[in-house]
Amino acid sequence: MDKNIVKHNYNVSRENRRDLNKQNSFLIWFTGLSGSGKSTIANALEHKLYQEGYKTYALDGDNIRKGINKDLTFSPEDRTENIRRIAEVANLMVDAGLIVFGAFVSPYKKDRKNIENIVGKDNFVEVFVNASLAECEKRDVKGLYKKARVGEIKDFTGVNAPYEKPDHPTIEIITDNKTVEESVELIYNKIKNKIKNG
Ligand code: ADX
Repeated sequence: MDKNIVKHNYNVSRENRRDLNKQNSFLIWFTGLSGSGKSTIANALEHKLYQEGYKTYALDGDNIRKGINKDLTFSPEDRTENIRRIAEVANLMVDAGLIVFGAFVSPYKKDRKNIENIVGKDNFVEVFVNASLAECEKRDVKGLYKKARVGEIKDFTGVNAPYEKPDHPTIEIITDNKTVEESVELIYNKIKNKIKNG
């Protein structure tokens, strides 16, 4: 099948769209345990960029898994497929000239490496939202850790499924004693030069 598919070259390029949008386009990927604060920080950072006039879009685990990826479980194979599809969607959005946010547990190193391969090294910012398991479990915003501990959820990341910490994330945020605003500032300062086009 593959050999019969030939890529068509369109006249409007990624660079054209970036120019029109007066910004660069790339993916900011948040990885970390459930309840670590990935979505909260991504949401606040996106809002800051939006207020500055940048064009953005946020992809989030809980939403994507209700739509495009609703056929997928939390088995290692399905998590890999979950991340692969999201990375492909993010890549299209980067192509469309947007600053894209992804907030997913993404517990496996090889899956995160695959995201980098799909979107390209230059278009990938990896943010490790590092909250301790104890802290996430104490917060237990969705009550899922409690369920996992009593065996109602199997393969729950941090409890009975692994989380492989990134060795060299672009940015690491230790959230246990940081406000959301402080975390946003930290990331913003790291990426502000990357946002500008040209
Ligand atoms: S990932 O591992 O495939 O990247 P994803 O980010 O899409 O996970 O979804 C994680 C969210 O699904 C968690 O924040 C949590 O609300 C919910 N969830 C339900 N079951 C599990 C599970 N077994 N492991 C982790 N998260 C789960």
